[in-house]
Amino acid sequence: MYKHSLGFRLNAIKQLAANRIHDRPLSITLELTRRCNARCDYCNHWKEQKQTEQEVGDFVGVIERFQPFAVTICGGEPFMRRDALEIIRAVKNVPGWRYVGIITNGWFLTDERCQKLMETGIDQINISLNWPDERQDDDRKIKGLFKRISHVVPMMTAKGANVQMNSIIMNDNLDDVVPIAKLAYSWGASVCYTLYSELPAENTGHLFPTARQGRLAEVLEELRELRKTQGNIANTQWYFDQIPSYVQGNVITGCTAGKKTLHISPGGMVRPCAELPPVSHYTEYDHIAAEPVTCTRCFQACRGEVQAPLTLRRIGEVLTA
Ligand SMILES: C[S@@+](CC[C@H](N)C(=O)[O-])C[C@H]1O[C@@H](n2cnc3c(N)ncnc32)[C@H](O)[C@@H]1O
Repeated sequence: MYKHSLGFRLNAIKQLAANRIHDRPLSITLELTRRCNARCDYCNHWKEQKQTEQEVGDFVGVIERFQPFAVTICGGEPFMRRDALEIIRAVKNVPGWRYVGIITNGWFLTDERCQKLMETGIDQINISLNWPDERQDDDRKIKGLFKRISHVVPMMTAKGANVQMNSIIMNDNLDDVVPIAKLAYSWGASVCYTLYSELPAENTGHLFPTARQGRLAEVLEELRELRKTQGNIANTQWYFDQIPSYVQGNVITGCTAGKKTLHISPGGMVRPCAELPPVSHYTEYDHIAAEPVTCTRCFQACRGEVQAPLTLRRIGEVLTA
């Protein structure tokens, strides 16, 4: 399992402290494109019309303006752009320290592209996985996807890359949530879960009916145990602990989208998050002056994990991750 060196962690803590002092965003997601080769029924990006896409220099401009702690290269499918690797290199090479990751569905990861991706110096490669077998192909409507993922993940971890599976916890894959963590472990990868949201495609079909909430609690309990034995679960325990209450209909306020976390659309517009409408061009956006969002309509990890309080337990989780 990938472990950051002590020096790396100390640099990260130093950078985190500097970001807090200067009130800089914790994390920025760069959507390279909304185009996608997958046809998921829980995300509408692939249905959108092609829109203007920024050039490499604009992505660099975003990093220089906001100086975030972390940058996530995302989409759509980021590898729909031929210059994705060039953008990653450019973002990584902007002077200063930042943690750079990518989220991809994995389809475009040929052996050669994996090697080139690792050579960019990227800190984390996130590959989405909602099923621990060929049902992943149906989920994404990409035949051969699971085979590709199960080849490239162990190959990259064997070469020393930090690979993480991004998995949605939803009603239909609930019994596969724990097997995904075990499979990731066997591949030398970690896993980060997010609760399903109906917002991206207005699809309520994967939500938890009341009768399944007991099973959801059992699975979350299994993940708590697995965290201790396998050590490859990236979520905070706090995030898992909030999920049952949220699913029962309790409101969780305090989303920091638009202030601590920003989404940059392919055309350079700032959205507080992927689901909220664009506010202004990144050259004009002021995250300090921006009003906090009042939206409570999802509890995805991108908001829930950022809200996890800084307790001794969390510091322990970060230091041992
Ligand atoms: C929008 S995708 C873009 C990146 C890339 N195309 C991929 O599939 O990994 C980013 C992440 O959002 C997750 N996601 C998409 N729709 C979601 C939903 N309705 N609820 C929760 N997570 C979702 C995906 O599984 C993926 O890990």
